[in-house]
Amino acid sequence: MPDEAAISSVYSLIGDAGFERLVAAFYRQVPTDNLLGPLYPPEDLAGAEDRLRSFLIFRFGGPDRYLHERGHPQLRMRHAPFAIDQTVRDRWVLLMDQALVEAELPAAATAIVQPFLHEVATFLINRGAKPNLVS
Ligand code: HEM
Repeated sequence: MPDEAAISSVYSLIGDAGFERLVAAFYRQVPTDNLLGPLYPPEDLAGAEDRLRSFLIFRFGGPDRYLHERGHPQLRMRHAPFAIDQTVRDRWVLLMDQALVEAELPAAATAIVQPFLHEVATFLINRGAKPNLVS
């Protein structure tokens, strides 16, 4: 996992515009994805996009609108309703890796954002053989 100083520096590297490109490129792929499409609310994809974008902006050192609107992230708790096994996690990571390519962030930002997203995605696995280390 990148250290906290690196994580909080990303917003100053890419600003709102970088997160906008990244998250839009991710959500463009979701509706037609056979594994992820059914998990997301079809009537509120724009809302889902806004929640992920404002979370990432907050977590990577930008304004904390997410906290004011949604409270503490509690990502494991918020993902509990969705069955996330290794296969679903890997698909989420694949779509996000494709979004990172499309968004063309500066290499220094990608080098921090990509491992962060991969590791949090692993942490959110809540079904299957992997033992839950956090309850
Ligand atoms: C491991 C695969 C993942 C799956 C299958 C998944 C799936 C979902 C789904 C279905 C939602 C509900 C959409 C909505 O907001 O209406 C959601 C919300 C969210 N996800 Fe994920 N997610 C994954 C990984 C991640 C990762 C790695 C992060 C952060 C780094 C993340 C951050 C969020 C946030 C911030 C929300 C909105 C929470 C809220 O405020 O309600 N997710 N996710």
